[in-house]
Amino acid sequence: MTATRLDGKAIALEIRNEVAQEVQAWVAAGNPPPKLAAVLVGEDPASQVYVRNKERACEKAGIASSLDRMPASTTQAELLDRIDQLNRDESVSGILVQLPLPSVQRGGTGVDERAVLDAIDPRKDVDAFSPVNVGLLMQGRPRFLPCTPHGIIQLLHRSGISTNGKHAVVVGRSDIVGKPMAMMLAQKDGSCGTETANATVTLAHSRTANLAEVCRTADILIAAVGRPEMIRGDMIREGAVVIDVGINRVGDALVGDVAFDEAEKVASAITPVPGGVGPLTIAMLLHNTLLAAKS
Ligand code: GUN
Repeated sequence: MTATRLDGKAIALEIRNEVAQEVQAWVAAGNPPPKLAAVLVGEDPASQVYVRNKERACEKAGIASSLDRMPASTTQAELLDRIDQLNRDESVSGILVQLPLPSVQRGGTGVDERAVLDAIDPRKDVDAFSPVNVGLLMQGRPRFLPCTPHGIIQLLHRSGISTNGKHAVVVGRSDIVGKPMAMMLAQKDGSCGTETANATVTLAHSRTANLAEVCRTADILIAAVGRPEMIRGDMIREGAVVIDVGINRVGDALVGDVAFDEAEKVASAITPVPGGVGPLTIAMLLHNTLLAAKS
């Protein structure tokens, strides 16, 4: 078997075009354009690229954006003060603080990431990282869906892959991807933006005993551990759908969490890295920014 490649780039473009059309209609009805305010602390090269891509995507969708570049030496009080200003600025629909914040080893001042994310007005929290929005998601009545897991749900749905009654194994328990992904896959029909949910979910991680065996029970395997090529071909059941969330820099190359060449021979469908899940995260961020403006 050679797996079908799931084209995240094309599906992201489709979603971005839909958002652009909705933005156009929103503005044509006399509303101010949605606006995303991004905050970037420090000089992390990967974060600079992500933020630039987000700005460009906003522009193409007709969404206004601003970028606050703050030095790595920014204190927690200064950052909280900036967030307070953005919370109160009525022209700002969504606020995004790019993670990771610089660690002390990288010239940072030891800012408490959680305190910063907690300070963002939940109505402007387009990443869906705030405790209120995480809680609403847990209860199956989300305000915003977190961008990467929502992108994966959209990717599956728009590729005609049902999760209904399937066994999904999520490898990785991060707050950004693994945990919300597991929750969203387990939700009842309709509460996560599409009818694609109702999976039986196993949330596995780096300390899971017999991880290979657990992975082999997956109809849908989602790798979000942040370890290059950790998921090998022999950990995948014949015909499984494999979603690779990893973006790991190995030398000059970008490598996923899945050993692609091995996995491709076993899976029925697989996302490449790059060009798989990555582009969907930005598409869903635009979606959330429009949603924030409308509400
Ligand atoms: N860093 C890596 N992924 C993300 C994301 O989705 N949002 C933010 N704010 N920072 C990130």
